[in-house]
Amino acid sequence: MPRLPAGAGGMGAVPKFRDALRQKNQGSPANLWSICFYFQSRPANLSPFPGAAHDMREKLVAQFQKVFGRAPEVVTHAPGRIEFIGNHTDYNGGTVLGASIDRGVGVALANRTDGQRRFFSGHTNEIFTLPTGPLQKQSGQGSYTNYAQGVLAALPAFALRAPDGFDCLDLSDLPVGAGLSSSAAIELASGLAFLEVTGQFVPRDTLVRIGKHAENNFVGVPCGILDQGVSGFGKKDHLVLIDCRGPRFGTVPLPAGAHFWVFNTHTKHALVDGLYAERHRECMEAAQTMGVKLLVKATPAMLEGARGKLSPLAYQRARHVLEEIARVHAMVKVLHTGDLVAVGRLLTASHRSSQTLFENSTAELDFLVDTLEQTPHVYGARLTGGGFGGAVMALTDGVFSQEKAQAVADAYAKKFGARPDILHMLTGDGAAVL
Ligand code: GLA
Repeated sequence: MPRLPAGAGGMGAVPKFRDALRQKNQGSPANLWSICFYFQSRPANLSPFPGAAHDMREKLVAQFQKVFGRAPEVVTHAPGRIEFIGNHTDYNGGTVLGASIDRGVGVALANRTDGQRRFFSGHTNEIFTLPTGPLQKQSGQGSYTNYAQGVLAALPAFALRAPDGFDCLDLSDLPVGAGLSSSAAIELASGLAFLEVTGQFVPRDTLVRIGKHAENNFVGVPCGILDQGVSGFGKKDHLVLIDCRGPRFGTVPLPAGAHFWVFNTHTKHALVDGLYAERHRECMEAAQTMGVKLLVKATPAMLEGARGKLSPLAYQRARHVLEEIARVHAMVKVLHTGDLVAVGRLLTASHRSSQTLFENSTAELDFLVDTLEQTPHVYGARLTGGGFGGAVMALTDGVFSQEKAQAVADAYAKKFGARPDILHMLTGDGAAVL
């Protein structure tokens, strides 16, 4: 298929990637799925890319030219995400809802014939050349390359080819450490660029699974599919619904008038990665004790029946996961009614479960949720992402304002002596070639 000239239909390069996407997964979803959607049907790079991504394309091309002295062959973009509801349900085979946001990571890339693999990042402002030979996890200045390297390492596992040499530049407008999953955005934007530049086109769910493979096997985080799935399947004004067992991906319209506000505490538990892995282990142990592979296969009755055999902590973790999966299902139904008050109640209930059962909240996050719960025009609030620090997401009506958000931040500053960042987010489209 010939590439559309820049500007045709609002798009720049449009590869065969979209054709592969079109043909993918015309399954027959049951229950939850049949209520809410058509899944895997929307190739994001058929939609006109959003203004923010368009600006980013121009910035990427100009910066690439400046740094590498030539034009990039491909420019891609992948968004960050907000975890809407479904905390720690993904790696337990459950369902989860997330929103892709109007900020993300852009990648510009061109092949090299000498085998050198050079990176330039807006964060470090210098060229980092990977050592020749096998890929090696980097620390220090080059550690941001681990996400792209993970993708390069994953490609052969999917019977795909990695480019031999390249110049790669990335720019991000995602706030660092806000729990908005910049790592998944880098993985998807780089993955799309590596595939595009080598003339390989895969279904969107493959791109998502490549990103997860990179995170699990190269970066070394036993995360589920949430972050990559939302970044890959995001759709403006929609939430992405993932049944993590398939995985299967779909979208649910976000009721009109709903606004996202993120309060980033910049706090992070020193052992956050270890604690995530520990929760993962506890969940797997609970599943094993109940004789199921993943917690999604257990029922509340099974959990109560096995209570005597489970440690109190394993019981708590499993109860959180089972109840949270039920909340996601309830949420899908409520979203279809457009009842934002009921939506908000489920969000805050999810936070309370994280706080008391899964114990991945912190005093800072709890304070924000408590304060937001008392604030007019807020439907609900909860920690977003892995927890143990990070950010709280609030769903509000359109009257909630920067001023009201500042009042929440003031109360926080009075208690903790530091101010959270306030980010008013819009939803955005998923990963695309720009
Ligand atoms: C992190 C992980 C996700 C998910 C969430 C918790 O964001 O990357 O896979 O497990 O935590 O829901």
